[in-house]
Amino acid sequence: MSEIQFNRHRRLRQSKSMRNMVRETSVSVHDFIHPIFVIEGEQIKNEIASMPNVFQWSLDLLDEEIDEVVKLGIQSVIIFGVPAHKDEKGSLAYDDQGIVQKAIRQIKARHPELTVIADTCLCQYTDHGHCGIVKDGQVLNDPTLDLLAQTAVSQAKAGADVIAPSNMMDGFVAAIRHGLDGAGFEEVPIMSYAVKYASAFYGPFRDAAHSTPQFGDRKTYQMDPANRLEALREAQSDMEEGADFLIVKPALSYLDVIREVKDYSGMPVVAYNVSGEYSMIKAASQNGWVDEKAIVLEKLMSMKRAGADIILTYHAKDAAKWLKEQ
Ligand code: PBG
Repeated sequence: MSEIQFNRHRRLRQSKSMRNMVRETSVSVHDFIHPIFVIEGEQIKNEIASMPNVFQWSLDLLDEEIDEVVKLGIQSVIIFGVPAHKDEKGSLAYDDQGIVQKAIRQIKARHPELTVIADTCLCQYTDHGHCGIVKDGQVLNDPTLDLLAQTAVSQAKAGADVIAPSNMMDGFVAAIRHGLDGAGFEEVPIMSYAVKYASAFYGPFRDAAHSTPQFGDRKTYQMDPANRLEALREAQSDMEEGADFLIVKPALSYLDVIREVKDYSGMPVVAYNVSGEYSMIKAASQNGWVDEKAIVLEKLMSMKRAGADIILTYHAKDAAKWLKEQ
């Protein structure tokens, strides 16, 4: 034995307390943003078939969900709306009586301390399901910007603490910043979906938010999954335009991108652990093929290790419970 030379890494793994001392990354309930789907109507608590234990909530039942979130110690939620009707221009996205605006007012009245983030996009509100104005089969960039700014302002007026634009039009951060500042909301931060790939992992979300494009796909505005350097250009533009947080989305297949965006930007980075990533684990867990608690905590840890400061995840409530037990 004595003649061969090697390092003894196992010395620091020999006990739980030793492992705790040298652990480099931690996950806390303060890292989580919990997504909530709100829908027009009454007495609706609709489980999404492809997302077990995720519901669409009508506003009369929403307090139940919010109270639970607060009780678990989660400090932040993001609101996605399912409107009563859709039209060409997504009018209900920027209506002061829109579903998201009403939900924000209700939540802030009940729990003023909760950080309420508004997802700012048009795809749930347009009849064609695209994230912008469509003409002759094209998604138009510049005419969309004004509607996004209007949406953000109406969400801020309703009391949103953070605006999270997810549409991937060029210049959307600049347009929204300009709109918010002009309306007196200089202090409302923008959490930009800066790096959003055209991903197959969004399928279950589109069931939940009724936002499937009615023709074509989103490849002319969302990014090509093959591209890494383009992510840095997208991040750079959003920083220059005044973003306060940068989201990378999806998370699991893009941990390399999270690391690079973090190192490159030095900004608060959000990992969006998307619907398909959630559903895969739920399905495997329900089959007894994986240990749900262990696998979820491991994957959330991996996002922190990759450089994320914040994790937007449908596992937030479960993970909050598990972290409390530990
Ligand atoms: C809307 C939007 C999408 C998601 C969040 N905001 C879907 C899309 O681009 O079609 C996906 C979130 C998820 O899958 O969890 N622009």
